[in-house]
Amino acid sequence: MFLAYTRAVSPALDECELTHLERVAIDVPRAVAEHHAYEQTLRRLGANVRRLRATPDLPDGVFVEDTAVIFDELAIITRPGAESRRAERRSVAESLAAHRSLEIIREPATLDGGDVLVDRERVYVGRSSRTNEAAIAQLSTILHPLDYRVIPVEFGGCLHLKSAVTRIADRLLLLNPAWVQPSVFSGATYVTVDPREPHAANALALGDVVIHPQQFPRTRARLEAEGLRVEPVDTTELSKAEAGVSCCSLIVTIGGREPA
Ligand code: GLY
Repeated sequence: MFLAYTRAVSPALDECELTHLERVAIDVPRAVAEHHAYEQTLRRLGANVRRLRATPDLPDGVFVEDTAVIFDELAIITRPGAESRRAERRSVAESLAAHRSLEIIREPATLDGGDVLVDRERVYVGRSSRTNEAAIAQLSTILHPLDYRVIPVEFGGCLHLKSAVTRIADRLLLLNPAWVQPSVFSGATYVTVDPREPHAANALALGDVVIHPQQFPRTRARLEAEGLRVEPVDTTELSKAEAGVSCCSLIVTIGGREPA
């Protein structure tokens, strides 16, 4: 069973943090509608969707993935690289404490959950403007005793590692080879995005279904050609805030192992 923690879109979404995208006007009511449809998709796929406390004054609060990384054994509360995002953590920690023991990333480390890709025992951590060496060291200290291996990854062209590569099935990744070197992910096979859709590498695997942005039909065709079942969701407005489908939920697996 999956719990999916989400948070309502802030009315201030168009004041969000941005790194690689130009600021353009966001139709916030449409972003709210996209987010509702995303939650409905999670429900249709069997997830129990729970809303975190609303934070209307925090523009990026909807992007809950960045505030925690969840393993079977524990959850790690991050310290987001953008200072404006650090107040998002409190309600996440309060909610996750019901399901996992918590570890906390502490100053001087900064870590965005969007920079952490877990594939079984391998924990790939993107070096980014949000995630620093101290965070990689703290993650190693927390996870090494649990037999996870923390692997730093260089990437470019986008905000988070998971903008460049996501896990779509066991040992199967979706990636943009222009932004991250496939050879880093030894042991995994991969599907590449259509080169005309560079932002299409962010997907969310839930069970054996892949949630993927509707705007990228060419990459969706590649996923379907691999035999994957794809659930398209429209993220046109949310993506103007440098968001993908993975960053709008925190998935907690209850009773049974599901690779994150
Ligand atoms: N707007 C998403 C982020 O910068 O974290």
